[in-house]
Amino acid sequence: MQALILAGGKGTRLRPLTVYTPKPIVPVLNRPLLLYQIEVLARAGIKDIKLSLSYQPDKIEDVLGDGSDFGVNLQFITESSPLGTGGAYKYAANGTKETTIVLNGDVLTDIDIAELVEFHKERRADATIVLAPVENPSEYGLVETDGDGKVLCFVEKPSAEDCAGTAANTINAGIYVLEPSILRLIPDGEGTSLEYNVFPEILKRGIGFYGFNLGKHYWRDVGTPSSYLAAHRDFLRGAIETIEPAITHSDIATKAFVDKHSVIGEGCVIKPNARIVNSVLGPGVHIDERSVVENSVIWAHTRVSAFAEVRGAVVGRSCYIGRNVTVSEGSVLGDKASLPDYSTV
Ligand code: GDD
Ligand code: MG
Repeated sequence: MQALILAGGKGTRLRPLTVYTPKPIVPVLNRPLLLYQIEVLARAGIKDIKLSLSYQPDKIEDVLGDGSDFGVNLQFITESSPLGTGGAYKYAANGTKETTIVLNGDVLTDIDIAELVEFHKERRADATIVLAPVENPSEYGLVETDGDGKVLCFVEKPSAEDCAGTAANTINAGIYVLEPSILRLIPDGEGTSLEYNVFPEILKRGIGFYGFNLGKHYWRDVGTPSSYLAAHRDFLRGAIETIEPAITHSDIATKAFVDKHSVIGEGCVIKPNARIVNSVLGPGVHIDERSVVENSVIWAHTRVSAFAEVRGAVVGRSCYIGRNVTVSEGSVLGDKASLPDYSTV
C-alpha cells in the first residue's frame, strides 16, 4: 500500500498568499499544510508517500525533505506541465501494482485511513471515495450512494439544477483508495481529470465504486482564504488536536494580553498593552504596543505597528502594517505588503 498526494495545483483561489508559498506548504498553525496529511497516513502505517507536484516544486521539497524527520519516505514527482488529477495519478503511479491512497493536497482531516482501507477491502472495490457532508455542494463533487455505499452518481461542480435533482448532500472529500485497475482508464501523458473524466467512466463501466462516509472525523478543504481562516478557528477551538505548544519561546510583555487560544510562533515580540485574541502568529512576528490582532493569522516576520488593528484577516510574510492602520475582516495581504500609517484596508 502506498499513498499519493496530489499537490500540483496553482492555488489560485488562495492568492496572493500562494504567490511565493505554494498551497501544499502554506502554514496551518505554523506547520506546512501537507504535514497533517503525512501524519494521517503515517498513523495508518503508510510510510511510502509520493508527492505529485507541478507548481513551485523546489520550495515544497526544501520544506519537507526526504520525510525522515516525520518517519516516512517521501518521493517527489514533478510534471513538466499540469496533467490534471487523473493524469498526475497515472504519471506518478508509473505502472504500480499496489493499491494507492490518493489525497487532494489541500484537505485538512483527521480521517482514520485504516478504517477506510478496511471498508474498501470488505467490498472488494476498485475505487472508494471518501464522502463528507456539506451545506452547499456546488464547489465540490456531488456524490450519491445507495444504502451499501455503492456510488450511483458523481457530478463535479454541480449546477443548482443538479443539486435540486438529488437529496444527497455528500461530496467528494478528495481522498480515494484506487486499485491499479483504474489506471487502465487513464490515457498516458494527457491532461485527464479524476473528477470530470475517470469517475464518470467508472460509473459507465459499472466497476466496483463505493463511497465511505467520513462520519465524525474532521474535514475541510483549505483552498480559499475564508476556509483557510476557518480551519484555524477550528483548530483554536479544539476541533482538531493541536500538536505543538500554543506559545513557544517569545518575548511577551507582562502587560500584553494573549488569550489562551492563540498560538504564538518562535521568537515573536509582543509589546505592552497589545492584545492577541484567537489568532496565530508565525515565527518572528513583531507586535507593537496597543495594537490589536483578533481572529487572524499572521505569517512569519511581519510587523504590526502601534495602535494598529487587524481583525479577521490573513497577513502574509514580512509585511509592514503601519501605526493606527485598520486591517478589516476578510482582508488578505500578500507577502511583503506595506501599509502606510493611518491607512485602512
Ligand atoms: N499534480 C497535480 N497536477 N495536482 C493537481 C493538478 C495537476 O494538474 N490539478 C490539481 N491538482 C491538485 C491540487 O493541488 C489540489 O491539491 C487537488 O489536486 C484538488 O484540486 P483543487 O483545485 O483544490 O480542486 P477543488 O478543490 O476545486 O475540487 C476538488 O476537491 C474537492 C474537495 O475539496 C475535487 O476533487 C472535488 O470533487 C472535491 O469535492
Ligand atoms: Mg481544493
